[in-house]
Amino acid sequence: MNDVKTDSKGAVVVTGAAQGIGYAIAERFAALGQRVVIADLRGSEAAAQKLSHGALGFDVNVGNAAQVDAMMAFAAEQCGGVSVLVNNAGIYTSLTKRPFEEIDPEEWRQVFNVNVEGVWFCCRAAARYMKPAGNGNIVNIASAVVSKGTAGFLHYVASKAAVAAMTRTLARELAPFGVRVNTVSPGFTQSDGVLAGGAAREKQSADIRLQRLVQRDIAPDDIAGAVLYLAGPDAGMLTGQNMVVDGGMTMN
Ligand SMILES: NC(=O)c1ccc[n+]([C@@H]2O[C@H](COP(=O)([O-])OP(=O)(O)OC[C@H]3O[C@@H](n4cnc5c(N)ncnc54)[C@H](O)[C@@H]3O)[C@@H](O)[C@H]2O)c1
Repeated sequence: MNDVKTDSKGAVVVTGAAQGIGYAIAERFAALGQRVVIADLRGSEAAAQKLSHGALGFDVNVGNAAQVDAMMAFAAEQCGGVSVLVNNAGIYTSLTKRPFEEIDPEEWRQVFNVNVEGVWFCCRAAARYMKPAGNGNIVNIASAVVSKGTAGFLHYVASKAAVAAMTRTLARELAPFGVRVNTVSPGFTQSDGVLAGGAAREKQSADIRLQRLVQRDIAPDDIAGAVLYLAGPDAGMLTGQNMVVDGGMTMN
């Protein structure tokens, strides 16, 4: 069986979960009785305490392979394995839109280090525990910008396209070990990072709402619901897929 059960053993590792979409995902898993490990650059332990339900926190930069290995070893040791990995940490809300000719190469490298290498490092570390167990679920958070081709974010769009493509290869390589791998691609979501954007964020939200078939804001919990579904028993026949949660703005 490769499905999440409320009584299943092993950690649910959610990266970038000290706030925003990641925290909403962690909350939903914790409510199911799963042992959650919040893995964030900072504030992981405080977020785990706020979450309660026995959640644990571990400060880690997902772009640093050694730190990721240490975090995953901690999660496996504390919880008796790793049953779910949600690759949610990403550089997005701190980015400013710029014409592609003006993107600083250092910023490009940082985006790829965290958004792409970070996913690779975390999958590699989690696979060490999932493969021998013959069981596991990975959900990668990409973005609806991949199909929209949003202007001003060339590095970010390219990094999330890489994540969606990586899901397919990872799904093929891990299927023989009972591990499913899927993508959730959120539309513009009212996360903590987005809410920090103030008035500009409100104008952007209003414009985007009008382009959606479902004309309301997307809450972090809308994304968490899709992640839980993909990692759970009802999605037992889904792997290598991309679920776009954007109110029907784009269609695959
Ligand atoms: N909010 C949106 O509109 C939206 C849309 C599509 C996709 N996404 C994706 O969803 C994910 C979460 O976004 P959010 O809006 O909740 O962002 P957010 O800024 O509210 O939270 C991001 C979290 O990730 C953590 N993080 C950043 N770099 C990290 C690193 N190197 N190692 C570990 N943790 C790190 C931050 O500390 C923060 O807690 C990101 O991957 C983002 O690209 C967001």
